[in-house]
Amino acid sequence: MPLPKAELHVHIEGTLEPELAFALAARNGVELPYRDTEELRRAYLFQDLQSFLDLYYGLTAVLRTHDDFTELADAYLARATAQGVRHAEIFFDPQAHTARGVPIGTVVEGLARALTAGEERYGISGRLIMCFLRDESAESAMHTLEAAKPYLHRITAVGLDSAEVGHPPSKFREVYAAAEALGLRKVAHAGEEGPPSYIREALDVLGVERIDHGLRCTEDRDLVERLARERIPLTLCPLSNVRLRAIDMLEEHPLRDMMDAGLLCTVNSDDPAYFGGYVGDTFHAVREALGLDDERLRELARNSFEASFLEDDEERRARLIAEVEAYDFGVRPPE
Ligand code: ADE
Ligand code: ZN
Repeated sequence: MPLPKAELHVHIEGTLEPELAFALAARNGVELPYRDTEELRRAYLFQDLQSFLDLYYGLTAVLRTHDDFTELADAYLARATAQGVRHAEIFFDPQAHTARGVPIGTVVEGLARALTAGEERYGISGRLIMCFLRDESAESAMHTLEAAKPYLHRITAVGLDSAEVGHPPSKFREVYAAAEALGLRKVAHAGEEGPPSYIREALDVLGVERIDHGLRCTEDRDLVERLARERIPLTLCPLSNVRLRAIDMLEEHPLRDMMDAGLLCTVNSDDPAYFGGYVGDTFHAVREALGLDDERLRELARNSFEASFLEDDEERRARLIAEVEAYDFGVRPPE
């Protein structure tokens, strides 16, 4: 049995495996600019975040109906469950779909249906986090929040994603204030490619409770101290950082140093269909590359539940943390 964990940073559009992309393309009569899944996979060589986003948003063209979104989320929940994920907080990008004429209700209801079925089928709990595209205007984000109002009972939080540099969190001050007034929790991507000042802005201007990525906080000692003192969770995505070239190789990832500095770190997959693994694979990869022992892995798993938005089910959170504490890693054969 794999180590129980929560995943707090996964974009549902980033779980679209090539096989499903082609199946949906055929079903919906969408022509893809790739001959087959192999040619598509060969295109997964990214220079940076933007080169990834160009391909990623292009592929969302295959997602059109309720059923498409349900199938996408169900496939993720099945894979995540197999890797020990017991609770998943899932990002979605409504503007990537509404811009193509897909109503926001189709997206939210399609995903929510999979989450409800997933509880029954896999025993996994799920929440939805609606992200605004930061390279779109603040007006567009406000319009998206407005359009989401009939579906807020299915949405736990708002987030901020897409191309970071040049789009600081402060651009979305009013939207986040409006989201808070609607009772939504708040997170934001910051410090993935952008500077430490974006992390400060996300905290001070948007009032976020978690920082997605936060990798570049390590460049600012005062910020690291503050994040540790205030117990602000970071949802790190080490495989993503390598694939999008924020770092050269996994062995150079600062995760271990960040944990040593007292930061509340979690590890996550970000866009697992593109970056070489789901969250269990990510745990395995950081264990190998950074030499993390079992207790470090236990800490990461415990952190994932502590940082999760399970305030509406504290009993479940406590039960899952107890499972992490009791988890027996067993004796691994020498390699
Ligand atoms: N959307 C999907 N993956 C993302 C990432 N790593 N950073 C920003 N936006 C994203
Ligand atoms: Zn992300």
